[in-house]
Amino acid sequence: MGEFKCGFTSFSVLLLFISFNLVLVHGQLLPIVNDYGENTSQIQIYIVHVLKPVGSNFLSAEDLENWHMSFLPNTTLDTGEPRLLYSYKEAISGFAARLTPTEVRAIENMDGFLGAEPSQRLELQTTYTHELLNLSTLFGAWSTSNSFYGEGIVIGVLDTGIHFPHPSFDDSGMPPRPSGWNASCYLPSCNGKVIGAQSFKYGNTTIPPTDIDQGHGTHVAGIAAGNFVDNAEVLGQALGRAAGMAPRAFISVYKVCWSEITIGCEKSGVIAAIDKAMQDGVHILQMSFGAPKKFLPTSFEEDSVAVATYSAMQKGIFPCTTAGNNGPDPRTLSHAAPWDMVVGATSTDRRIRATVTLGNGKQFHGETAYQPNTVTNKFLPLVFPGSNGQEDQQFCKNNSLNGINVRGKIVMCYIGNLKNIEKGDIVRNAGGAGMILMNFYIPGFTTSSDAHHLPVSHVSDKDAIEIKNYFANSSSPTAKITFGGTIFGARPAPALAYFSSRGPAGYNGNIVKPDVTAPGVNILSAWPVEVGPFPSGLKTKTFNFLSGTSMLG
Ligand SMILES: *[C@@H]1O[C@H](CO)[C@@H](O)[C@H](O)[C@H]1NC(C)=O
Ligand SMILES: *[C@@H]1O[C@H](CO)[C@@H](O)[C@H](O)[C@H]1NC(C)=O
Ligand SMILES: *[C@@H]1O[C@H](CO)[C@@H](O)[C@H](O)[C@H]1NC(C)=O
Ligand SMILES: *[C@@H]1O[C@H](CO)[C@@H](O)[C@H](O)[C@H]1NC(C)=O
Ligand SMILES: *[C@@H]1O[C@H](CO)[C@@H](O)[C@H](O)[C@H]1NC(C)=O
Ligand SMILES: *[C@@H]1O[C@H](CO)[C@@H](O)[C@H](O)[C@H]1NC(C)=O
Ligand SMILES: *[C@@H]1O[C@H](CO)[C@@H](O)[C@H](O)[C@H]1NC(C)=O
Repeated sequence: MGEFKCGFTSFSVLLLFISFNLVLVHGQLLPIVNDYGENTSQIQIYIVHVLKPVGSNFLSAEDLENWHMSFLPNTTLDTGEPRLLYSYKEAISGFAARLTPTEVRAIENMDGFLGAEPSQRLELQTTYTHELLNLSTLFGAWSTSNSFYGEGIVIGVLDTGIHFPHPSFDDSGMPPRPSGWNASCYLPSCNGKVIGAQSFKYGNTTIPPTDIDQGHGTHVAGIAAGNFVDNAEVLGQALGRAAGMAPRAFISVYKVCWSEITIGCEKSGVIAAIDKAMQDGVHILQMSFGAPKKFLPTSFEEDSVAVATYSAMQKGIFPCTTAGNNGPDPRTLSHAAPWDMVVGATSTDRRIRATVTLGNGKQFHGETAYQPNTVTNKFLPLVFPGSNGQEDQQFCKNNSLNGINVRGKIVMCYIGNLKNIEKGDIVRNAGGAGMILMNFYIPGFTTSSDAHHLPVSHVSDKDAIEIKNYFANSSSPTAKITFGGTIFGARPAPALAYFSSRGPAGYNGNIVKPDVTAPGVNILSAWPVEVGPFPSGLKTKTFNFLSGTSMLG
């Protein structure tokens, strides 16, 4: 035992080691230091799995931290930053630290080492709704499940934080907090609905977990457990009573996703949040993020988050994850652990209709949320900047419309490469009067009711082909966009969204995933800022449609 550099000698005699839980699932964790051939003097965050000392349940947090520190070369980097970011207590037996690949190789040779994984930035994904599931009808799950409206349940939402003042997070009608609940709250004040709010950013846990910049966490928390809000709408569309899946459930917020050039959820912080949520006593973990397409897990050794949710599952917590936005190809799942609920995304039967009428009289029903009633019912010239085959112009990328006369015209653009609303801004800034946003083969029939800033219709691939044929064969093509408001009963519905990741996983013992699908296209939920062409900044009662963040990556 003496050879273990434990840092606190009084304990070294007690340190008998037991085998790590994961062995039960998938054999021995292997050392998988994968530096992708990177500069070996490069410091990265690693998640390091180590053996658990016997009696570790009785160790103080400080003793456990000292045990983890004993694996590190020293306590700080040249820059003075601490090496140790997180010392995990429940989710995994291990820690997260700043190390170079060479330093990790040295740790591999130490007794007690099990495996190490470079931390990764995970992407935000999709969400789901109750509308099509009949939860709100008399015989739906709400009235038949034991837990009325999710009353008494605590949902831990790991995401971009929460826009606390939103009425979806009002505590009216909420039961008293669970007895013994003692999670921290780094918001101005928690209430009887949001009963915990914490942040995890590179080891820093003292940042308020607000969500004024991203909105995704607010949207997800609203879908999971938003309270009833009457007259919810997006620019007047989809008007109705908004509510989450479990409107009487509590929310405990864990902000793990941060904007740094792009938004991402750093894995060591995600595990720290799971670790804390387990100690806080949540019942459900809601995790709407996963590995990007290029770095999908191919084994559980590469997926420390799955190891953490395994521990959570053992404590009776229900881990809920998304299939991923990497479809429609097979083997594109971001999560595939047998113990995770993995959810794929479908459309609903609701459309926010924007109809394209061509000069030849043909009509095509697309979608948009911004439906101004000031638009003249007049045919306008139709222009397709990408008809020359230039990719930048097909996607209406910024500055690609220079030198093309789009003023006062309806502009045809393929979706992709940039966000739909930004594409509309480019058309608007170039003087375009409207945009037909066209799917191509892969996105197929999945359309978005985005809150655009000019008249738009997002049409299916099938309709786009006909519109292009008309454009190609007409000497003076014209079109108009008219608005049909909110339509229910669209068919076929539900239909699997093209972006929803498909199985199989190949590494999970042939267990079929995703487990279920749920509505994930154009879902209305809470949003921190006003949307549409005339935004006036932060508002408390706004909603937005979201279908996941990176539709075409
Ligand atoms: C490796 O990275 C360090 C620190 O970023 C840098 O100083 C060094 O020049 C790099 N070496 C190589 C071979 O790229
Ligand atoms: C810790 O070790 C690194 C090399 O691994 C060294 O550059 C740094 O100065 C050391 N820090 C302290 C405080 O000793
Ligand atoms: C939901 O309820 C409606 C009306 O009661 C019914 O037609 C529909 O089939 C139900 N949907 C599901 C998914 O059960
Ligand atoms: C609640 O948590 C704080 C630290 O976050 C701790 O100081 C306090 O003792 C805890 N109270 C109970 C009753 O567990
Ligand atoms: C953590 O973040 C807060 C807010 O950005 C900052 O004030 C504080 O200095 C940070 N703490 C550490 C240890 O970096
Ligand atoms: C397009 O690029 C210009 C600079 O060339 C920039 O000022 C403008 O904000 C960009 N527009 C959009 C919608 O990204
Ligand atoms: C129109 O043009 C397309 C492509 O240029 C062609 O395939 C099609 O047959 C033409 N005719 C009609 C009626 O669409």
